Amino acid sequence: MSELAALLRERIGATGPITFAEFQNLALYHAQFGYYSAGLQRTGWRGHFVTSAEIAPVFGRLWARAFESMWTDLGRPAQFDLVEVGPGEGGFVEAVLGACAGRFADALSYRLVERSPPLVERQMERLSSFDNVSWVASLEEVGSATGCLFANEVLDNLAVHVVERTGAGWVELLVGLRGDRLALEAGPLSDPALERYLEDTGLQPPKGHRVEVGLEAVELARQCARTVTRGAVVFVDYAIDASSITKRPAGTLLAYSATGADEDLLDRPGHKDLTSHVNWTAVATALVDSGMTVSGPRSQRDVLAALGAAEMDEFLKEAHRAALAGGRGVDALRALSQRQALGVLRDPSGLGGLQVLAGLRGVAAPWELAT
Ligand SMILES: C[S@@+](CC[C@H](N)C(=O)[O-])C[C@H]1O[C@@H](n2cnc3c(N)ncnc32)[C@H](O)[C@@H]1O
Repeated sequence: MSELAALLRERIGATGPITFAEFQNLALYHAQFGYYSAGLQRTGWRGHFVTSAEIAPVFGRLWARAFESMWTDLGRPAQFDLVEVGPGEGGFVEAVLGACAGRFADALSYRLVERSPPLVERQMERLSSFDNVSWVASLEEVGSATGCLFANEVLDNLAVHVVERTGAGWVELLVGLRGDRLALEAGPLSDPALERYLEDTGLQPPKGHRVEVGLEAVELARQCARTVTRGAVVFVDYAIDASSITKRPAGTLLAYSATGADEDLLDRPGHKDLTSHVNWTAVATALVDSGMTVSGPRSQRDVLAALGAAEMDEFLKEAHRAALAGGRGVDALRALSQRQALGVLRDPSGLGGLQVLAGLRGVAAPWELAT
């Protein structure tokens, strides 16, 4: 049994069942034993899964072009605020900062909001050669921003409540104890906000279906929208809309660990990532309620095409050819591996199938701007 499982058993035994959202928050972010807070590398080649940001710098390079186009569309303000929420191992920020040059680089202020202290330490080490990046404890500390708030694969990691439709209405699935094992049990809804969310998103699944309710994702979308005075909020994630949610009887929650994906959500808390598909309907509504217009969702494949993936591929092809002709083997391999990474990022059955949603205030969507 994991240390966290023992702590949870003790707590639940003493004070009763907890919501799945509380369980997930502890499993991922418990200061000592949480999946993301215990200090181990989780994303990237030495972790349990590789995100677009950690595949290769080409992902950040393409987005750097989009950020520069946004800056131009906003009238080239003296400061362009790029705020990344949940930068993880820091691959995206490193690639973006490495790709920006000239007047845009001078205007760029890159701020990072990261929840896990050991990750902040690793980010600081990785990014020590850049002087235009800084860390803030929360979005409140950012205050207001002219530019872009960006989050890749963060919303799907935020804690969700789990509810189930029964003949007598909704019940919430809580984490309790069966004997000495953690087990889900039905109880009344723990928060009136759950009922409002279910009504607002029009979720009416058949009886017996489970649905995740991402109140934290909605709150983060609201906070992001409030922070951007002019510019965009961009979320890249595994997502679904409200009408498709009702077609998944068991919901979308999955656990990831060294052995791959499984549905044993309560097993070994702290040793597994817990993710669920983001409900775009709820997130888009939060952005619109905060005065933004919404564009998307678009597939990552389409978005990268609009950001210039084909031109980047041509450029890398030429760099590869020139390096081979000049006998520069390492450069040739580097260009080739970036080309292959582009293919992985655009693969419709893999990372290319991720979805991108943008909230906009006074700027066009990244995929509508010339790069
Ligand atoms: C799946 S990782 C993705 C990391 C990175 N964006 C990438 O694509 O490689 C999720 C990250 O979001 C962070 N995170 C989760 N909730 C957060 C929040 N409310 N504020 C800031 N960071 C958060 C986690 O600590 C983790 O670093």
